[in-house]
Amino acid sequence: MGTTMTRIQSNSRVVNWIEDRMPIFSFLSSHTSGYYAPKNFNLWYYFGSLALIVLVNQILTGIFLTMNYKPNAAEAFASVEYIMRDVSWGWLIRYMHSTGASLFFVVVYLHMFRGVMYGSYKKPRELVWLLGMLIFLVLMAEAFMGYVLPWGNMSFWGAKVIISLFGAIPVIGDSLVEWIMGDYLPADATLNRFFALHVIALPLVLLLLVVLHLAALHEVGSNNPDGVEIKEKKKADGTPLDGIAFHPYYTVKDIFGTGFFLVIAAFIIFYAPTFGGWFLEHDNFIPANNLATPSHIKPVWYFTPFYAIVRMIPFKLPGVIAMFGSIAVLFFFPWLDRGKVKSIRYRGLGYKIALGLFAVSFIMLAAVGAGVTAEKIPEWFGASADVTTIENLFGRFWTVVYFGFFAFLWAYTYFGFEKTKPVPDRVTMHD
Ligand code: HEM
Repeated sequence: MGTTMTRIQSNSRVVNWIEDRMPIFSFLSSHTSGYYAPKNFNLWYYFGSLALIVLVNQILTGIFLTMNYKPNAAEAFASVEYIMRDVSWGWLIRYMHSTGASLFFVVVYLHMFRGVMYGSYKKPRELVWLLGMLIFLVLMAEAFMGYVLPWGNMSFWGAKVIISLFGAIPVIGDSLVEWIMGDYLPADATLNRFFALHVIALPLVLLLLVVLHLAALHEVGSNNPDGVEIKEKKKADGTPLDGIAFHPYYTVKDIFGTGFFLVIAAFIIFYAPTFGGWFLEHDNFIPANNLATPSHIKPVWYFTPFYAIVRMIPFKLPGVIAMFGSIAVLFFFPWLDRGKVKSIRYRGLGYKIALGLFAVSFIMLAAVGAGVTAEKIPEWFGASADVTTIENLFGRFWTVVYFGFFAFLWAYTYFGFEKTKPVPDRVTMHD
């Protein structure tokens, strides 16, 4: 167990009465002051608690949006405009929710990258990682459906393009697309079911998965930037020598991190809520219109790396398989990486270079998917440049790097090419 559960003895008779019937306070204290976390957490360890903060923000602001939003194709767009213009503080609630969605992905991508850097997916934390990946899948579905709700033109066309991808599946594809939409186009039925899923079904699943994610983590205990298992060296009282109580030490540290994060979030929400079209696209301030296709149909930035992959592969079915594969492969991290050393600090140079290239490939693919490269190519290569050919070359190169990383990681560790550094016995502290 990563936690110690001792019975709370309180001066309050009410607390003791509850404790005798259901030891909820003992449970909470065992997961806070009784949970020992490594003492060497760095900046990267803020993102888990920040993800929790953003999750709470999304749920609270979502509840208030739902009070004035109308989930039907005839009224949805106008109801969002009403929230923005007429509901008291409606604009703030809406922007906290829409900007919150993007910040959620910023935080979760950094949280995942931390997990990769420090080998936090390795034994005994495979389940923490797998539950995290399930959270990531549900979060993507949640964000996709949320973006459809304002029924702007990008809501409509984005939904059409993404749902149509399922049409690539042989035999059942066309019926599946119709089944998902409940119509031949994204329509009222689509909007209604997306509303039900976005507002209640997926948030419930998400909450459940987050609880399981933390339960799995507390069972085995947190990893740390050194990748040293702190439970292997214990004090006489059985607590880890390199561990400190989560409460008060990390609650205080996380409050500091949260304060810093909220300042940045407030700046964006107040001064650049759409982030120049990156968080809310310009086309989504125009009502849905199936006769007016936006000049560039593209998803919001957090989907663009995966969207680039489907676009870079010339045939529809292989493209769709590659796109889903680019997400599915992340589930297999714990088994693809056979290296014995967890933290990047003590791993081989090959690993460091490969992980760096992988991160670059993700950003480059995001740029391709968002249409940045297509826009810049005429600037860089002259007005007569063949944009499609250059973009395809570029995008395909980074697609190969993306998938190549996993192949390399497996071969590099499986065949023992990795030259690691000695891992210290105890965690190290840096000033
Ligand atoms: C709603 C989204 C999420 C929430 C609220 C959340 C929350 C947390 C929290 C509070 C922690 C402990 C603090 C920390 O280590 O930073 C944690 C740890 C962890 N999470 Fe998440 N998480 C989320 C999504 C994910 C995703 C998508 C993944 C990866 C696929 C993931 C993988 C991990 C791993 C591997 C750890 C253990 C890290 C370590 O001990 O080094 N999480 N998570």
